[in-house]
Parts: sequence; C-alpha cells; structure tokens
Amino acid sequence: MSYDVIVIGSGPGGYVCAIRCAQLGLKTACVEGRETLGGTCLNVGCIPSKALLHATHMLHEAEHNFAAMGLKGKSPSVDWPQMQKYKEETIAANTKGIEFLFKKNKVDWIKGWASIPEAGKVKVGDDIHETKNIVIASGSEVATLPGVEVDEKIVVSSTGALTLNKIPKTLTVIGAGVIGLEMGSVYARLGAEVTVIEYLDAITPGMDSEVQKSFKRLLEKQGLKFVMGAAVQGVSATKSKAKTTYKLRKDDSEHTLESDIVLLATGRKPFTDGLGLDALNIATTKRGQIETDAHWATNISGIYAIGDAIEGPMLAHKAEDEGMAVAETIAGKQGHVNYGVIPSVIYTHPEVSTVGQTEEQLKEAGRAYKVGKFSFMGNGRAKANFAADGFVKLLADKETDRILGAHIIGPMAGDLIHEICVAMEFGASAQDLALTCHAHPTYSEAVREAALACGDGAIHA
Ligand code: NAI
Repeated sequence: MSYDVIVIGSGPGGYVCAIRCAQLGLKTACVEGRETLGGTCLNVGCIPSKALLHATHMLHEAEHNFAAMGLKGKSPSVDWPQMQKYKEETIAANTKGIEFLFKKNKVDWIKGWASIPEAGKVKVGDDIHETKNIVIASGSEVATLPGVEVDEKIVVSSTGALTLNKIPKTLTVIGAGVIGLEMGSVYARLGAEVTVIEYLDAITPGMDSEVQKSFKRLLEKQGLKFVMGAAVQGVSATKSKAKTTYKLRKDDSEHTLESDIVLLATGRKPFTDGLGLDALNIATTKRGQIETDAHWATNISGIYAIGDAIEGPMLAHKAEDEGMAVAETIAGKQGHVNYGVIPSVIYTHPEVSTVGQTEEQLKEAGRAYKVGKFSFMGNGRAKANFAADGFVKLLADKETDRILGAHIIGPMAGDLIHEICVAMEFGASAQDLALTCHAHPTYSEAVREAALACGDGAIHA
C-alpha cells in the first residue's frame, strides 16, 4: 500500500494530524503500537487523571460542603476498585472514539511500532509501507532522575500512579509540577498524607509568581505538605515502603522521608526510541527533541515532526494544533500555530490556567504594562458554590491596552481562560473584554471585572 502521509503515533498530535490529512483528501495511515489509540494522553495521562480528579473532587465536596448546603447524611466511602473501573471505562470510551473517527475519515490504523528505514518508507513489523510524507508524532516518556528507579509499584511514574493497588497512607511526590500536583491532589483527597519535594523555591515553575504563591497556600490548606528548595538524591525501596533522600539547597543538610509510595514527577522527555533517527541523520537538540523549521519539517525532506517530540510546551493541545497545521502544510495550504497564545491548565481544585506573558516576563522585557485583578470573593456565583478562592489577573499593555497575558486561579479556570485566548487572537484590548456583556451570574464575570480593573476599575471589588 502506498500513502500520501503516514503519521507515526496516535496521541493528540498524531490522531488529529491523521484525521485532518484525510479530510484534506490525502491518503493517510497512522501507526500505533499500543493496543488502543490515543497515546499517553488518552491511555495513561490527561483523560484517566481527569476521571480520578473528578471523582475525588466530588468526594471532597461531599465531605466539606454538602452539610453546609443542607445535604445531610453519611459522607460517601471510597470503593477504589470501582473508581478504577470508572477510570478505565472513561479511557475506553475515548480511545474507541478515536477508532470510530479513523474509520469515519478513512484513516488506516497500521498496528505495530514504526521505524523509518529511509525517507518515503515506514517499516512496521516485516512490512514496508511507501509514503510521500511522514509525520513523527511519537510523544514523550517519563524523564529519569539519577538514583530513582521506577518500578511502577512502590516508586511510580504518572502511569503507575493511576493504577495503584490500594490508596497509600503516605505518598511522597518528587516535583511540584503539573503531574505532581494533580496526582498529589487526588491522593490527598483520598486521605493520603502527601509530601511534595521540589527543587526550586516555588511550585509550578514558569507560572505567574502571585498564582504560584496563592496556589501553594490553597494546596496546603487541602493538606498537601511541601519541602521546597530540596534536591532529591535517591530513593531506596523495599516491597512495601520507600525512603526518599533529599538535600536542602540552603544548607546542604541531608534528610530522609519514608512513605508507602513515591511518585516521580520531574518532567518528561521526547520518545523517539526505535524510529531509527540516528541512521537517518535527523537533527536533534541536546535535549533529544527533533529539530524542525517553522513548518514542522525536519532536515530530511518529506519527514515532519510535531508535539512532545519537538521543542515547546509538552501539552496535548499544542500537539493537536501542530498536527492540524502540518496536515494543512502538506496539503499545500497555510498551516499556522500561534505559539504566543497557547493556554496551560492545571486541573486541581481550584484550577489554574495561564496564557501569554507573566508579569515577571514583562518586567524582564522592560515592557510597560498594567494589571487588572479581580478576586472570586466578589463573584456571586463563586460564593454560592463555595468556590470563591482565587482570582483573575489580566495583564495589558500600558499604552495600547492590548491584552498580553492572563493568569487565573479559581473555579473552572481551565474554561474561563479561553475567552481571553480568543481576545488575544484578535489582538483585543482589555476594554474590548470589559465592554462585552457577560451573563450573570457566571464565573466569567470575574474575567470581565479583571478587564474593568485594567481601566476605570472593577465594580464588585
Ligand atoms: P514539570 O516540568 O511540570 O515539573 C517538574 C518539577 O520537578 C519542576 O517543578 C522541577 O523543578 C522539579 N524537579 C526537577 N528535578 C527535581 C529534583 N531532583 N528534586 C526535586 N524536584 C525536582 O513536569 P511534570 O509534572 O512531570 O509534567 C511533565 C509534562 O507533562 C509537563 O510538560 C507538563 O506540562 C505535562 N503535563 C501537563 C498536564 C496538563 O496540562 N494539565 C498534566 C500532566 C502533565
């Protein structure tokens, strides 16, 4: 069989790319070696973690807010096998959905692991498939940390953390990034004593510092403990316990922490094993990312790369956008991704979302800016829903009022960010947002109030 495009990997980057290629009239196949489509995100990442976050958030609501709302009775108890089943069913519903979309769009699923013997050829098992274009969307894998051996039982990565045999009494999380805080929240809500060890002095590196501080305080209120400025030296594990050794950076003192489970969440790295990139002489960066030009082309003609395997934030939606754009490029259209407007969300409670520049970045760039901030304490809907922790912070150019960034911590922050993304895509000013009628009572009124605060002032502050 000969194709116009073969996409390697069926994660959000790969499957979206394959579907768009087919929609644009290109004969397309997607190679996937897992039993199911969807890659890390659907099988062992975004989707299963959201199921566990949702279930445990419901539990948290029942335990903490039901009585005050007049909902009395025993708090629900946790049926861990059933929660796991619910998570597995959620995964299956989503991965089967991709299979359906492949059939609907006439994308062939080539089952197996691919290698690229030369441009124009993809080898899967003993078969060689001819193709005009290849898109590498092979994703990422857990980055290792010296002295920490992941066995996915006692010392787990995000994959093992989704399928623990039982709820641990104590959990040590290495790394206060997105994975550490999302999975740490899940187990803290399930009753585990969670300690997060972070190398830096702030959690969620790169985020707006006001959000970082407020987020840490709120997580601490929920019971998570933090050891900051600590470099993990290693983990030694027995059959039922693990000992984590870390050094405090301020005085070099060494400490140990014992727990039932250790979650390693110190980042991910591109997954390109077995593709044969070296033999092809495909250029990579020092960090193992495939080098691409502005059109996702590698240095080998006819071979493109997208998603976690290349530079940029390791986010499913960034990969999806690149997948669509590269499909359009291959089809002879103008594929485009606006890297300045890629939102990022942490699905804890409250949620955290961010887009564009942080205040720190603007200061560093010497840019004149103004800040419009609004607390959810002034939002009627949030107060009614016991969800008034957090704020919306909007950053706009001091002269032109053009929106430069937004940072939200609060209820549905992951959804609220998108009206700001659209505004930024259109080069809108804070006043444009402020003049847009927002339905009452909604959380999104807090976004409008933050925009008002960039001008003559918020009403409910
Ligand atoms: P991350 O890069 O978000 O955070 C890793 C943290 O580990 C950093 O705070 C870092 O300072 C710390 N760290 C590194 N070495 C350390 C050491 N030796 N001792 C203590 N702390 C150390 O990485 P994470 O959370 O593993 O996530 C991986 C990728 O997956 C990220 O790119 C993330 O964006 C993506 N992801 C996104 C999600 C979302 O969008 N909601 C959910 C889950 C993952």
